[in-house]
Amino acid sequence: MMPTPMKSRLLRAGSILAVLLLCGPGQAETPLEAAQQLAAKRVEELRQAHTEAQQELNCNPPLETIVVSSADCAKYLNPDVDPAITTKHVCANCHANDGNSTLSHFPRLAGQQQAYLANQLIAFQKHTRSGQGARDYMWGIASPLTAGQIDALADHFTRQSPSSNPISDADRPRLELGRQIFENGIPGKKVLPCGFCHGPQAQGLRAFPRLASQHSAYTEKALGEYKENITRPGTPMRQITRDMSPEEMRDVALYVQSLP
Ligand code: HEC
Ligand code: HEC
Repeated sequence: MMPTPMKSRLLRAGSILAVLLLCGPGQAETPLEAAQQLAAKRVEELRQAHTEAQQELNCNPPLETIVVSSADCAKYLNPDVDPAITTKHVCANCHANDGNSTLSHFPRLAGQQQAYLANQLIAFQKHTRSGQGARDYMWGIASPLTAGQIDALADHFTRQSPSSNPISDADRPRLELGRQIFENGIPGKKVLPCGFCHGPQAQGLRAFPRLASQHSAYTEKALGEYKENITRPGTPMRQITRDMSPEEMRDVALYVQSLP
């Protein structure tokens, strides 16, 4: 018999993979759908790697290790594993080693504020951040991390240089409206200027995250979660988003993606 914690982790991994696979395949209509299809394909590859690692080493790696090569498997299962190994073999698969992920499904972490990154990893561990994306991808990965590993992983991504994230020509006409929201807020709706807290160039400060060059699809999704106030509760973002329309969220998300 497998020990119970391992068994439940494997069960969880199985259900997570099942959920993710629902994303594809099919005809991609929007950039988000295209990204979801790519993510589903990636998960299929990871599932294959997982099966091979299990067969080779008989170590039954839980979800958080399915991206680790079989040689690193035992090493990664050690709770004192070097965060550089974790970054390279786990985080990099989705966020890229330098934090400049190319798929909008996966948020960019490069140059993100250290305090904010650490806060979010703790929120995934405590399940206080509980949106679908958090549950499917980050709860399992964050659960075994020690406080020291969280700090070191956050340090790594904070020190990476963010690369620009150009928006499409079709979206360019939205930038001016987005800029106005970012710089002036929406006075009639009591939406404060985003730059007050996120910085004039959206570079962030400590617990206030950097928004510049983040994928707009991710930013839009985050704004929607704050508005619902269930999956990311207890932050000033509830008040900010309460009366924002989907179009306003989209425009400001495009604007911050266009910032360097
Ligand atoms: C299988 C893909 C995958 C892997 C591997 C992965 N992540 Fe994530 N990560 C995601 C997704 C998807 C989200 C967005 C979750 C959401 O929608 O709330 C995310 C969100 C995050 C966030 C919050 C970002 C923000 O702007 O709020 C942090 C921090 C993070 N991941 C760190 C890590 C670290 C550190 C590792 C390695 C230990 C890692 N991730 C591994 C998919 C992944
Ligand atoms: C009063 C300060 C304040 C203002 C004004 C503000 N924010 Fe925030 N924002 C925060 C804080 C604090 C967080 C981190 C919350 C958390 O830990 O989940 C945050 C988080 C976010 C996130 C999540 C980032 C991520 O990587 O997941 C987005 C997106 C965001 N804000 C966009 C905006 C936009 C757009 C505006 C303007 C319309 C705005 N914010 C105005 C304080 C503010």
